[in-house]
Amino acid sequence: ARSSRRLGAGRKPCALLRAFLRAERMDRIELLRPADWHLHVRQGEAMRAVVPASAAVFAQALVMPNLKPPVTTTAAALAYREEILAAARAAGGRAASFVPWMTLYLTEATAPQEIDRAVDSGAVLAAKLYPAGATTNSDAGVRRIERIYPVLERMQQRGLVLCVHGEVVDPEVDIFDREAVFVEGVLAPLVARFPGLKVVLEHVTTAEGVAFVREAPETVAATLTAHHLRYERNAMLAGGIRPHFYCLPILKRERHRRALVEAATSGSPKFFLGTDSAPHPRGAKESACGCAGCYTAPLALPLYAEVFEAAGALDRLEGFASRFGACFYGVPESTERIALVRRPWTVPAAVPLGEGEEVVPLRAGETMGWVVE
Ligand code: DOR
Ligand code: ZN
Repeated sequence: ARSSRRLGAGRKPCALLRAFLRAERMDRIELLRPADWHLHVRQGEAMRAVVPASAAVFAQALVMPNLKPPVTTTAAALAYREEILAAARAAGGRAASFVPWMTLYLTEATAPQEIDRAVDSGAVLAAKLYPAGATTNSDAGVRRIERIYPVLERMQQRGLVLCVHGEVVDPEVDIFDREAVFVEGVLAPLVARFPGLKVVLEHVTTAEGVAFVREAPETVAATLTAHHLRYERNAMLAGGIRPHFYCLPILKRERHRRALVEAATSGSPKFFLGTDSAPHPRGAKESACGCAGCYTAPLALPLYAEVFEAAGALDRLEGFASRFGACFYGVPESTERIALVRRPWTVPAAVPLGEGEEVVPLRAGETMGWVVE
């Protein structure tokens, strides 16, 4: 038990061998333009400020619905989509062809007919389950899962994907255990009850979550963020408390991070890219009670590349970043290509977030080794 607590314990020899075999360093990799299957772009000025960073790199993204008020109807999702499209077009260049896919925010009052409208719209790909109180703007979420069974039934019939924030909210459960407890106590029974429902365990952060998804039927997949792949909880807590690393689910210990990297680089199509890039104004993060969310959009793809390179698996980045998610959601992958080039650049200390606010990106002021050309 003690050795497993040591950082770096349990490194797989095959990963080292793969890294060695690729020792002639690649300095440029091309891949199909990637997709971000979990993105927060907020609304109003903040939305217009952050959409260009994602749209410049990603061909498409699944946009989360936890606005104020939450996006609970297809009509609201389509109106929100138009605003995002306008912001992307205004940015020009590659951003102008960005495709935002929408999600509905599930409440205990969501009607099954709303699921029909979502599917018929052709622009809503999923509905999101937030356990009430689990995270930012989740108060209108679900308290008792049985209350949404009729809606889940309709989603199963119509093929609308269920995206899950996989954490229990029970105050008795330690925050570092909330995902594992959810997976065993809520997600496993849900998947068993709705065997035809497509489910994505969003931003999986634990070995338990990864194991569940790997062993579950084909209907179950997971997104992985760049920050959970790259950092463990020491980054947030050792030598000082760093609020820009605080997100939910919270960063876990190194053993879990290794399990995530193994899943992301395994080549399994069940694991794909979802940044969970979640901007908050600086003051809301650097606070006595800071908000959860890491803003990673401007550095996300280089950060994933850093992780895949360290694992000796750059050749598997394209499947993870550009293909598997589109395949799961049943939409076309991009046909354009982009290049990642090995060239150092410095992440800005802060970027504007509209209304006089700014957001501090993850790795602010630090160097990235890869850049999107
Ligand atoms: O860290 C997070 N930030 N986790 C979430 O689940 C929500 C997100 C946000 O919207 O800020
Ligand atoms: Zn999120």
